[in-house]
Amino acid sequence: MKIFVVNGSPKAELSITLQYVRFLAKHRKDLHFEELHLAQKLRHFERDATTLDATIHTMGEADVILWSFPVYYFLIPANLKRFIELLFEKKAGSALRGKACSSISTSIHFFDHTAHAYMRAISEDLGMRVLPGFSARMENLMNPGVQKSLLGFIDELGDLAVEPNLSVPRAYAPIVHRPKAYRPRQIKPSPPKAQGKMVLVTDNGTTKLRAMQEVFCAQLGQELAIVELDRLRMDSACTGCLRCAWSGECVFRDEVAQAWKTMLEADALVFAGATRDRFLSSRWKTFLDRSFFHGHRPVLAGRHAVWLIDGPLGQLATLRDVLEGHASVAGMQLFDLIDGEADSMQALTRLLEDSALRFSHGISKPLRRPRLFPGVAGMKLFRDFVYLTSGLFQGDHRYYRQHGIYDFSQREWKSRFFNAAMSAAMHLPPVRQRMLKNMRHLMLRPYLRAVERSRP
Ligand SMILES: Cc1cc2nc3c(=O)[nH]c(=O)nc-3n(C[C@H](O)[C@H](O)[C@H](O)COP(=O)(O)O)c2cc1C
Repeated sequence: MKIFVVNGSPKAELSITLQYVRFLAKHRKDLHFEELHLAQKLRHFERDATTLDATIHTMGEADVILWSFPVYYFLIPANLKRFIELLFEKKAGSALRGKACSSISTSIHFFDHTAHAYMRAISEDLGMRVLPGFSARMENLMNPGVQKSLLGFIDELGDLAVEPNLSVPRAYAPIVHRPKAYRPRQIKPSPPKAQGKMVLVTDNGTTKLRAMQEVFCAQLGQELAIVELDRLRMDSACTGCLRCAWSGECVFRDEVAQAWKTMLEADALVFAGATRDRFLSSRWKTFLDRSFFHGHRPVLAGRHAVWLIDGPLGQLATLRDVLEGHASVAGMQLFDLIDGEADSMQALTRLLEDSALRFSHGISKPLRRPRLFPGVAGMKLFRDFVYLTSGLFQGDHRYYRQHGIYDFSQREWKSRFFNAAMSAAMHLPPVRQRMLKNMRHLMLRPYLRAVERSRP
């Protein structure tokens, strides 16, 4: 059986994830693994269509397609994203239809679910029969239990491959999208409504997106600084070298750091992008991956943000999860996510103008919505990771100390003392009985007091 491995790690042969695949190859000599290292090949694919055609042909001859990738910035690395765009451009679905497919990833489990959801959805779009992927924590390969489980995973994938008629459920419905044109009649300049500096970050992905930006920004009524990702000099995608972990600076001296400087000066951010397949463009993804020099620090915390999307966001639950999750972890106040799918051009113009108005007013209001589960859980995961790797991630470590992000429960002395007292009291049967009987009232006491003491 031939297993075609698409290695999406920018580290090519130095990929940790690839070692999981090599472990399988060592233990299953009956399977033939062929590896494609995108980090080395993508440039050729971009330049020479015949090399890409030949690769798609080879993929078509394999029994199994196995995506091997690190989770990068809530998704997959930009290089792999670009390869997927090329597969769709080349209509590779006809070569891959019916093939057994799955994913192996490594990460620290931060938003690995969105990465796997995306890979599953695009594999299904390419007509493949997809087995849920194997998401390992980086260092799991050293664990014999995980090794055993990994062998079970390849067994299951092999079983799927030898039974071409074995059907599997499709998790993500195909996208039904007929892009609607948008030519707003006249864009009325408006007086500024909010104090503070605003920045537009966009890939100028489509004419429609540009029109949406124009309408939105005209209604904000103020001059915005612009970061244009389509023009921004990015000499490379992130290579995963981790040299930024210590210094806080990227080794590439292009325009990414300057773009971030502009963003950090903003009080509010307008992000804009057009969708390609089921996510933003690989250009956007390159920029996000390259932002790794800010590490695990919520440097945009407190900023207001809004997303303008040209694409069927209503059908792209994973993209929404990523954008909302990203804002939540970053501590941003995400106001709206607006796609260009309104029923009519007038309706879209109205939506954009009304949203810009609400956005302007929102900036000066004291409302700060607390983080939801992805933001709370994500920060706890980062907290533990940074604490345990502070020898390398020094910048993050300092930032976490200065900003009180090390909120370990062991340090909550008051709660711990209260809990110990409560535990002792609960061992006395009469106290326990009274407490359990009056639990709801007892729990409510401090809240009643908070309401009572507050001054209108
Ligand atoms: C730019 C960049 C972004 C990353 N983003 C994530 C992430 O969103 N979630 C996560 O759990 N790990 C993330 N990681 C950690 C990698 O997924 C992890 O180190 C992985 O094991 C690397 O695999 P590789 O050696 O195969 O490239 C990121 C690492 C880098 C360099």
